Amino acid sequence: MWRIPALRLLGCTRSSRVFLFQDAGPRHYGSCPLGARDEVRDRRAYFTTPIFYVNAAPHIGHLYSALLADALCRHRSLRVPGAVTTRFSTGTDEHGLKIQQAAAIAGVAPAELCDRVSAQFQRLFREAGIACTDFIRTTEVRHRRAVQHFWEVLRARGLLYKGLYEGWYCASDECFLPEAKVTKQQGPSGDACHVSLESGHPVAWTKEENYIFRLSQFREPLQQWLRDDPQVITPEPFHHAVLQWLEEELPDLSVSRRSSHLHWGIPVPGDDSQTIYVWLDALVNYLTVIGYPDAEFKSWWPTTSHIIGKDILKFHAIYWPALLLGAGMSPPHRIYVHSHWTVCGQKMSKSLGNVVDPKTCLDRYTVDGFRYFLLRQGVPNWDCDYYDEKVVKLLDSELADALGGLLNRCTAKRLNPSGTYPAFCAACFPNKPGLVGSSVRVQAEDYALVRAVASLPKQVADHYDNFQIYKALEAVSSCVRQTNGFVQRHAPWKLNWENPVEAPWLGTVLHVALECLRVFGTLLQPVTPTLADKLLSQLGVSATERGLGELNFLPRFYGHPCPFEGRRLGPETGLLFPRLDQSRTWLVKAHRT
Ligand code: MSP
Repeated sequence: MWRIPALRLLGCTRSSRVFLFQDAGPRHYGSCPLGARDEVRDRRAYFTTPIFYVNAAPHIGHLYSALLADALCRHRSLRVPGAVTTRFSTGTDEHGLKIQQAAAIAGVAPAELCDRVSAQFQRLFREAGIACTDFIRTTEVRHRRAVQHFWEVLRARGLLYKGLYEGWYCASDECFLPEAKVTKQQGPSGDACHVSLESGHPVAWTKEENYIFRLSQFREPLQQWLRDDPQVITPEPFHHAVLQWLEEELPDLSVSRRSSHLHWGIPVPGDDSQTIYVWLDALVNYLTVIGYPDAEFKSWWPTTSHIIGKDILKFHAIYWPALLLGAGMSPPHRIYVHSHWTVCGQKMSKSLGNVVDPKTCLDRYTVDGFRYFLLRQGVPNWDCDYYDEKVVKLLDSELADALGGLLNRCTAKRLNPSGTYPAFCAACFPNKPGLVGSSVRVQAEDYALVRAVASLPKQVADHYDNFQIYKALEAVSSCVRQTNGFVQRHAPWKLNWENPVEAPWLGTVLHVALECLRVFGTLLQPVTPTLADKLLSQLGVSATERGLGELNFLPRFYGHPCPFEGRRLGPETGLLFPRLDQSRTWLVKAHRT
């Protein structure tokens, strides 16, 4: 006989967003009241990407997942400095039927395939500047220990039972499917075969005795969790979709396979004839990374933000929180969901031969260029289409012309012969619009620029909080355009440093433009770290002056001293971002073939 703990949701503290759960017995789970330890934990943030299957080489969709997490984590570190406040994990998902079959087809041992492809992911992420703090492989010993411990906890809490499972299994998606989600299709040889309605991947009928998790018991606690915090799953349509799924019946979940069928995985503790279901195995990676089952994991859980693609929402928003609740733990703090990249309007797939190699893209467009493109164009709510001309057009216009041009203009020797951060003249640019006087040169639009750039860091932070990095970049880009308009309007190249009437205004125009550039450089660090470093170094901004706390835009306008005024600019190191369209012989060639 099994016994399910009667889960009662006690509440959620607004400040910690930690759920408090209590079972019918005397044990308490989740957080204690906010105390010193919680304050430290509140400052902590743990970002994760999905762990990637090693059946094939990485593509741009995988890189996109990792970049979103990287940018979120970097932005968070700029906001809350300190060595131990952020953690960011990624890794490879190496067990399961999918990998076992891929290795058999490739004629290599599964371990060999895993080593090879996992190394490809690690190399790509290193080259793309993914600053993860942890890279986990599910074939590691520490992970096996965590998964087996987690299993034992579920078993001890009466949540696993042995039963006969009969139904469709899709090895490509590693999931069980109800009859309604399966359809018949004509296979390549003309025979009818069964495929998953959603992914189109083949399915096979499976009938075997295995361990089953009492998922059905968690429908209500999951609904309550999602209703209590409508921002758990972002963007909102995905939150809504999960609540819709939970309206339907939630069947129990088979969580093991016969070892004779699936040997490449973690054995069920105490029963070698069964292998643990790869999704249970994979999801526990988020705990392994932070030291589970040792107590240290508690300082990072559940202040967790999972970044995932839309295809794996059900596993993260239903199975994972239910498993956690079952194990007496809180569900994750946030689940950020993104859509997919298609290529020239088609789904990316090996069989269509249209998989875009991220390494080629990093080489062609530079690391920062390609990072900027994916994050500027990728919209979480909808699929985005990839093609080369789009990248060239965007990077040339926003990074080379608008941002690079602005920096170049304002730091060029011709316009700024002293090579210093010029002084701001409050008489030329008084902080109250409408003032008149002989030295006042400012126009109404200039105040709009100051307002826009002053509010930009907050706007950008809000977009990051809402998982809309593309909007953050759109806002920066719009301010860059406004600043170019400001410089164009006042044409500093027509003013003369030798003229005592013109010089203060010339200095002020450059000072304001450099202050705007300093804000843009600071805010772009999470997305284009090398380019931002180049920009800030050229402005003479030191490493300790690059956090969001130190930003303090245009202090002279507000009557405060500016630490940069009169400071030497950094050395010129060439164009910030050279235009691509002159150097794209590969693109022309690609079109001819
Ligand atoms: N191994 C599982 C995840 C386990 S997490 C506990 C898996 N792996 S995957 O390699 O197939 O996918 C990893 C991530 O890449 C998913 O978030 C998926 O949505 C994302 N992408 C796969 N193809 C993609 C695109 N074409 N575009 C954007 N992201 C894509 O699922």
